Amino acid sequence: MSAGQGMHDDPQIFLAKGLTARRNSKGKSNMPTPATGRYFLQVPGPTVVPDRVLRAMSMPLLDHRGPTFSSFAAGISQDLKKLFRTDSEVMIFPSSGTGAWQAAFCNTMSPGDTVLIPEVGMFSVLWAKNARAMGLEVVEIPGDWRSGIDASKVTQALQADTGGRIKAVLATHNETSTGVTSDIPAVRAAIDEAGHEAMLFVDSISSLAATDYRHDVWGVDVTICGSQKGFMLPPGLSFTVASPKALAARESATLPRGYFDWAPAIVAAGNGLYPYTPPVTLFYGLREAVDMLLEEGLENVFDRHARLAKATRAAVTAWGLENQSLNEGEHSNAVTAIRMPQGVDADAFRALVLDKFDMSLAAGLGKLAGQVFRIGHLGYQNDLTLMGALAGVEMGLGMAGIAHQKGGVDAAMQVFSQAANS
Ligand SMILES: Cc1ncc(COP(=O)(O)O)c(C=O)c1O
Repeated sequence: MSAGQGMHDDPQIFLAKGLTARRNSKGKSNMPTPATGRYFLQVPGPTVVPDRVLRAMSMPLLDHRGPTFSSFAAGISQDLKKLFRTDSEVMIFPSSGTGAWQAAFCNTMSPGDTVLIPEVGMFSVLWAKNARAMGLEVVEIPGDWRSGIDASKVTQALQADTGGRIKAVLATHNETSTGVTSDIPAVRAAIDEAGHEAMLFVDSISSLAATDYRHDVWGVDVTICGSQKGFMLPPGLSFTVASPKALAARESATLPRGYFDWAPAIVAAGNGLYPYTPPVTLFYGLREAVDMLLEEGLENVFDRHARLAKATRAAVTAWGLENQSLNEGEHSNAVTAIRMPQGVDADAFRALVLDKFDMSLAAGLGKLAGQVFRIGHLGYQNDLTLMGALAGVEMGLGMAGIAHQKGGVDAAMQVFSQAANS
């Protein structure tokens, strides 16, 4: 295996020797294998899929047009409303989150319509790119990739739009590339303050089931999400909730919809009958994942994520490294992006950690490539799994010779001990 390549990057070893401990010339094994413990997937999506979900997904397939599947699927859709905190139907498309972005455009917009996008990081930039690709005009509010959405700038931009060209404000709730969360109710208030008719679209792809989210109460018109993060599922499903205002916009919108038409997806949410072959296996997993989240209780899910995030930040501070997220109150529950000291290649560090400890940390994206590494702490994670991840980071920093102080792991343990005692 070459330097920087972990076992899971090497399919031959993984498949051929997956259950055999690898030994070095002295007969010792220090390479993790499935027989010696789990690979640490610490990226903010796809996240670790719980055994319970994996087992559910191994069930034999059903006739997707038969009565068993349709009532099963319709039941899941009803429970999904609890996670999005909405009375509207939750539409499911077999796509990644990007597909749901596109569906939102083609159901509510006409060619040449304008959308307003506050730039908070790579995913807001990609959303803008997707809008342009769909034939829309984009007005961007530039950002520093270290702070959340500045609601006052949203108000200003909308007030300047005296012709009412802007049809929607696109807000990324949790910017996965920077670890910064934006205040969605403040964006709603900014639109209202401007007295503007623009709809509010929210990307909740890495916030849902990690951070409090309320589609109805917050006055969101379109919420977009994906399966591979807080939902603890493999990638492959997207979720969309549309408000009555967004559905009304659909009546006059003229972009072609094809596969991504919301209308049959809303019908399917109600009766479980999809106009194409739904990914039955992912629906099995979804049932289990939704049950797990509801059994834990949403408030507990959010508390757990807040605790994991706090412990991670305590470690980062103790190491003497810098959080990409600048502002207290905006730090993400789901992911922490950590800046490397000047001149240190974050990707080489990640490669070393993967090679030595079989742990995948996430890369810096876009203009942060090589400058930050990210620790995903969402989904199927608890205090001790995160302690393992932080230990891997601290050992890796030492092995890579990166200037830092020891004590990050201790600082995180203190956060967890205090929480356990309170
Ligand atoms: C905030 C955010 N938006 C959009 C996306 C794109 O979603 P997908 O990769 O599922 O298409 C991601 C993916 O990581 C994301 O984190």
